[in-house]
Amino acid sequence: MRTYQFNKFLIEEQRRNPALAGDFSMLISDVVRSCKAIAQGVSRGSLAGVLGDQGSENVQGEAQKKLDVLANQAFIHHCEWGGHLAAMASEEMDDIYPIPASNPRGKYLLVFDPLDGSSNIDVNLSVGSIFSVLRCPDNGDGKTPTAADFLQPGKCQVAAGYALYGPSAMLVLTVGNGTHGFTLDRNIGEFLLTHPNLVIAPETREFAINASNERFWEKPVQRYVAECLAGRTGVREKDFNMRWVASMVAEVHRILMRGGVFLYPRDSKDLGKPGRLRLMYEANPMAMIVEQAGGLASTGRERILDVQPTGLHQRVPVILGSHAEVERIERYHREYENGEDQPFRSPLFSTRTLFRDD
Ligand code: F6P
Repeated sequence: MRTYQFNKFLIEEQRRNPALAGDFSMLISDVVRSCKAIAQGVSRGSLAGVLGDQGSENVQGEAQKKLDVLANQAFIHHCEWGGHLAAMASEEMDDIYPIPASNPRGKYLLVFDPLDGSSNIDVNLSVGSIFSVLRCPDNGDGKTPTAADFLQPGKCQVAAGYALYGPSAMLVLTVGNGTHGFTLDRNIGEFLLTHPNLVIAPETREFAINASNERFWEKPVQRYVAECLAGRTGVREKDFNMRWVASMVAEVHRILMRGGVFLYPRDSKDLGKPGRLRLMYEANPMAMIVEQAGGLASTGRERILDVQPTGLHQRVPVILGSHAEVERIERYHREYENGEDQPFRSPLFSTRTLFRDD
């Protein structure tokens, strides 16, 4: 197995693509340092007194955990002084964080979810950090960046990655030349390249969705899941397995390792929200990682990387993973909208209830 250090990987990428030289590789090193610091805090858990609620809410109205806040501070602390960034934005901050005028400002923007899946923290299950790097428009004139500078479609990302704090800590990164995985060797404090050129199996028998929302899903998603559940007795003619960790980083990682499809689709649970996951710091970076590994990422109606953002904390439906499955789910959306599919009745709902919807 090739096990060379993350820095060596970055230098090689840089030699291959001069656009990645200088600032860019230094910035990625700063991000990786943030992830190592967070990995350390997460692994010490109760010993470090970092578990539990912070007693505050983020801009989405979600209760913040102590580790959400500490992880956010870790990113700011490690990335604000290097001179590579013009501003940062995160799930845990209402507005953008322009690099203070006392520090040199660089040409990139960093968007991150410092601790994704944080409801898992207090029960000692896997969580992660997700990040996305964009170019700052008009960075030459020295003006203070605004939120509008961040509103670029995901296809403009220069790099995307996540750190998974699981049984071992891993970093998965793409700079637009494949998706690569690194494992943290805690003995030397370095990420080592352990999973070069990850490829998502195009076909799968495994899906991940929060099935408690079934009655709120749109018909194409109900159809897809019902067909998976029907297994070899249904149109798919094969049995499927289901998983749900409730931590997007862990779900995407599983899909990179052994294939599968992940859905957090549009639902009618809260009509004010077109999905649960956030475009800028969850859907976009994961979509780039998945596409670079040969998979697809879609809202069901459009490629995620083509969505034009309208707000920093905007939500979006997310369907990603194995190529053939995501294509199938997109087709179900098209067929439904064109009135081409058969009227669909959920077997989940109508076979075991007195309250049939007929
Ligand atoms: O905020 C994101 C997140 O925690 C994801 O990491 C995860 O996929 C999802 O929410 C879990 O949602 P639910 O609480 O509906 O299972």
